[in-house]
Amino acid sequence: MFIIVTGANGQLGKSIRSLVEKQKKSHSFVFVTKDQLDLSSPSNIQNYFEANKFDLIINCAAYTAVDKAENFQEEADMINHIAVKKIAEIANSNNIKLIHISTDFVFDGLKHKPYFESDACSPLNVYGKTKLEGENAILSIMKFNATIIRTSWVYSEYGNNFVSTIIKLTQKNNNLNIVFDQVGTPTYAGDLGQAILNIIKNKKFNEPDRVTGIYHYSNEGECSWYDFAKEITNISGYKCTLSPINSEDYPTAARRPRNTIMSKDKISKEFGLKIIFWKDSLKYCMKNLSTLSPLNKE
Ligand SMILES: NC(=O)c1ccc[n+]([C@@H]2O[C@H](COP(=O)([O-])OP(=O)(O)OC[C@H]3O[C@@H](n4cnc5c(N)ncnc54)[C@H](OP(=O)(O)O)[C@@H]3O)[C@@H](O)[C@H]2O)c1
Repeated sequence: MFIIVTGANGQLGKSIRSLVEKQKKSHSFVFVTKDQLDLSSPSNIQNYFEANKFDLIINCAAYTAVDKAENFQEEADMINHIAVKKIAEIANSNNIKLIHISTDFVFDGLKHKPYFESDACSPLNVYGKTKLEGENAILSIMKFNATIIRTSWVYSEYGNNFVSTIIKLTQKNNNLNIVFDQVGTPTYAGDLGQAILNIIKNKKFNEPDRVTGIYHYSNEGECSWYDFAKEITNISGYKCTLSPINSEDYPTAARRPRNTIMSKDKISKEFGLKIIFWKDSLKYCMKNLSTLSPLNKE
């Protein structure tokens, strides 16, 4: 397959590129950054895919600034919804497969058990709403050949994320307050990237006219942001006292769901994926972080 990966400068895009570079190649990959393919213009997307032909699009690009999106709704909608709609139209009319990444923030977090793919969506913030619109656009345009993967709490060796932020803050501070009443599951982008690479090798994924579906993927287990930060400091060894606080004591522009733990049964059964426990992947990523990878230096 000839495969394009958008969002090549993002956490997931970089993670997939790093995995592809290390592994035996059974497909050809093209990784595109915003400079090479700007998704903010549908005509730009159209022109790009008229000039460049692919068998599979892996869309890792997104407007991911959750709080900023509250004031830049149009910009977020353009990347997370309008561009996704355009990509789905192009994929549908050219028989291109699509893997699109979505978010746990499509849920309102009021469920007290893990979310299934069939659960009702009711996003609390602009980011979640625009991502849900993107999902719905794919579902209405592509009856076949699209795979939507919702993920949560993504971190990696690249860019700014919760892990790198906590490491920096615990280096500089003696005390930190961390939100305790939002629970979910961290996702190491390297694991999600590997899951995507395994999925595209899977026989079921490659069946002609496979019915479009939504899947959940994160690491295994569950924690609060406080538990997550605690584990980061346990591994790093930085001496900093962490105190649990409620969301009300840490006001943000965007409201966030209280629970976004997701069931991974569907994705693991359908594609035979083994999902790693979140603390094990965190340890692995933090070990890599201590010896900066060449990609991170770019
Ligand atoms: N991060 C999380 O915690 C999280 C949680 C749930 C779901 N997700 C989803 O997982 C996917 C991957 O997330 P991530 O953490 O890898 O995000 P990320 O690190 O923020 O990367 C997103 C990428 O999209 C690119 N992008 C933004 N606007 C663009 C445009 N107009 N044209 C082309 N590219 C554009 C960005 O380019 P620049 O680098 O040039 O800005 C960036 O490289 C996204 O779909 C996201 O919604 C993420």
